[in-house]
Amino acid sequence: MDIGPDDRILVISSAGCNALDYLLDSPTSVHAIDANPRQNALLELKAAGIRTLDYEDFFKIFGDGIHPEFTRLYRDHLRPLLSPFARRFWDRRCPWFEGKRGSFYFNGLAGTVARAFHAYLRLRPKLRAHVEAMFEAETLDAQRAIYDQKIAPILWGPALRWTLSRQFTMSMIGVPHPQRREVQAQHSGGVSGFIRESLEYVMRELPLKDNYFYGVYLRGRYTQDSCPGYLKREEFERLQAGLIDRLHIYTGTVTQFLQGESHLISRFVLLDHMDWMSSYHPEALMEEWDAILERATPGARAIMRSAHARPSYLDWVQVGPEKQQLRNVLKFHEEMARELTRSDRVHTYAGFHIVDLPA
Ligand SMILES: C[S@@+](CC[C@H](N)C(=O)[O-])C[C@H]1O[C@@H](n2cnc3c(N)ncnc32)[C@H](O)[C@@H]1O
Repeated sequence: MDIGPDDRILVISSAGCNALDYLLDSPTSVHAIDANPRQNALLELKAAGIRTLDYEDFFKIFGDGIHPEFTRLYRDHLRPLLSPFARRFWDRRCPWFEGKRGSFYFNGLAGTVARAFHAYLRLRPKLRAHVEAMFEAETLDAQRAIYDQKIAPILWGPALRWTLSRQFTMSMIGVPHPQRREVQAQHSGGVSGFIRESLEYVMRELPLKDNYFYGVYLRGRYTQDSCPGYLKREEFERLQAGLIDRLHIYTGTVTQFLQGESHLISRFVLLDHMDWMSSYHPEALMEEWDAILERATPGARAIMRSAHARPSYLDWVQVGPEKQQLRNVLKFHEEMARELTRSDRVHTYAGFHIVDLPA
């Protein structure tokens, strides 16, 4: 993303980790946008924690996912800084952090899937020991050997294949139906085959020791060695010392935000949200691209990903008064995107694009 001090970054909030990590590059501002107020409620809670808590308490809450005194800290320090929606949301969910049902990361939809995987591993103690050993392996060769010899032969049975093929499971981990259809259309092994291939790449080709994306699923917590940047002590302190003031949170669509924003944006982190829009709201997606092009600095950069290697919206979205094809308006950095995809520690998206907007 090549972020510099003059950049204004738009990022889809999601759970807020990305927005906080981009702040660490000291841009002028980070605008975290999400249409879902619950996602922003979580980011607001993190931001309130950065502003008012010491590192130890903050790490217990968002690193360990358990703080026995969360309700007191929430009432005395965090709640006063939240928006009315976020207050209503968290007022009823303090127990998520108090550990009676395990970690915070085992709550919510995706958390429930993680907890179900844990329950499954409890029933298969040998598999569980191998999975834990694989995450602790000192070298990639050792990790790969554990996967190939001990885990792969017993993990991919019919029960797991069946579970992964259900839309229900995909919905729980945030994959809407159109995205699942895209995956099915592209992969001969269907959704479970695609997931197997993706996970095998992660487990065989990339070190798991610093893969906090899967680590938090497995353990229900981050460790101080393997966690997003904002959870590391020095970075937390930099945020607390002032960087957090550069964060602006907006609840609404990307288009609504851009239409009301007076400053131009130089970096766009769009995640995968255009996949569902292209199926359910194609006109809204066209309107969004017009808004992006209107409110972008010359030569601004955007990144986005998709369940499809070549998402069709790049061809049918037309932009500007001349109705140009989106693909022809953007400058694609294909080699850079390919290279970065090789080290993608999540690896569940077939398509990743880095594009520059017109200069
Ligand atoms: C859950 S994230 C996707 C996370 C995915 N794992 C990733 O990192 O690519 C998608 C987010 O986009 C938000 N979203 C979808 N369409 C949007 C839009 N048009 N404007 C703003 N936010 C949107 C959703 O509310 C959701 O929080």
